[in-house]
Amino acid sequence: MAAFPEDIFTEPSDVDPDTLANLGPLRRLAGSWEGRKGVDISPKPEGPERRVYIERIDAVPIDPQANGPQLFYGLRYHIHVNTEEEDITFHDQVGYWLWEPATGLVLQTVAIPRGQVAIASGHASPDADRLVVAAERGQTEYGICSTAFLEYAFRTDSYRIEIVFNADGSWSYDSNTVLSVRGTAAPFSHRDRNTLVKVAEPEPNPLAKIDPNVPAAAQLAQRLGLRR
Ligand code: HEM
Repeated sequence: MAAFPEDIFTEPSDVDPDTLANLGPLRRLAGSWEGRKGVDISPKPEGPERRVYIERIDAVPIDPQANGPQLFYGLRYHIHVNTEEEDITFHDQVGYWLWEPATGLVLQTVAIPRGQVAIASGHASPDADRLVVAAERGQTEYGICSTAFLEYAFRTDSYRIEIVFNADGSWSYDSNTVLSVRGTAAPFSHRDRNTLVKVAEPEPNPLAKIDPNVPAAAQLAQRLGLRR
């Protein structure tokens, strides 16, 4: 929000329950995706290691979320990565992509099972062909939080991801996670790049699936001030 209001409790009264119709630039991320030619550069004792990976991403529409007057539409995502050589997990990540229509704010939350979370932010127009979000260690709003071992050995100073929506409906990303690896002077660019092709359309969000003619649903919609 450009300027925050005095009234921090009153929620918007005219909320469209259909997330897919209100995702702005995130609309083109909704659904299930696969990419088989990802490229990872990660830190190893002998130096940077380059590996090709296979990726699956499920991005599922969630119900509209309000922080008082602040309204988000979004996707809950799960990324799973392995390689041709091994079935075991190479990278796993969950989080939300969120869009605030009122301001053009785009957020990505990142949680990876190394004991690390981040909130990355950026701005975009509803029809953007490109998204960029970034997080920086030490920031309280759009920062990075890591377990004590990672802080000691692989301190993560920044994270940035750029997404480009391609004309054929696929999308590509380029992410750069800058690490300070213990014992080395120069920052390490942990880069990941891939192009994802749609393998399944998204389901509507739970609220959009509720039949408004069902009395309980109509009541809920009324209580939440939803437009039908
Ligand atoms: C497709 C995306 C990604 C892939 C395939 C990937 C893969 C890897 C691999 C293979 C390693 C080395 C693992 C090891 O030697 O134990 C690594 C290390 C690391 N990754 Fe990623 N990564 C990805 C994205 C990310 C993101 C988004 C973050 C954080 C925002 C991140 C944070 C780290 C950190 C902190 C390490 C160092 C920890 C360590 O080596 O023990 N990675 N990653």
